[in-house]
Amino acid sequence: MSQLACVLYLSIENKPFSETSLDLLVSSAQTTNKSHGITGFLYYKQRHFFQYIEGTPDKINDLLDNLKKDTRHKILEFVQDNTLNDRRFPNWDMGDLKTNQLMQIKFEDLIIENLLWKKTYKNTNLPINDANLWKLVDKLAFFRNKGHFS
Ligand SMILES: Cc1cc2nc3c(=O)[nH]c(=O)nc-3n(C[C@H](O)[C@H](O)[C@H](O)COP(=O)(O)O)c2cc1C
Repeated sequence: MSQLACVLYLSIENKPFSETSLDLLVSSAQTTNKSHGITGFLYYKQRHFFQYIEGTPDKINDLLDNLKKDTRHKILEFVQDNTLNDRRFPNWDMGDLKTNQLMQIKFEDLIIENLLWKKTYKNTNLPINDANLWKLVDKLAFFRNKGHFS
């Protein structure tokens, strides 16, 4: 299995997204991601986007460049791991967590809190360990995949 890369980020919209523009964003992301072998999910809540993407490093870096340049939102914090062995969301071209409300588990909120915490303490000497963040993403993947396919 060749090495994969993944990125998790939190961003804030620059102008309000309507339900329609969100749906368009998700469906176009699904089409593009499918052709680039990118899987993951997108979560939208209270003006914030929280997205996880995984794929080959070249495709992930290209998408990350696009996302950074996209004026519809501003990335507040992101973490990248280039040592991923197995996909966490192998069957999701771009899951839209907003519409999958079967699971009541609020891992998304925990992860958002972690990213905000990282952003706040970035310029201090406090040790910041991304391992906990990735553990939360693993848990989210476990419950989301189970909730989605069982
Ligand atoms: C919150 C957010 C999430 C996005 N997610 C994706 C995605 O998963 N895949 C994708 O191809 N584009 C996504 N986009 C769009 C990209 O930023 C960019 O517009 C797209 O890659 C097309 O770029 P290009 O037309 O310059 O090739 C997203 C945009 C926003 C604002």
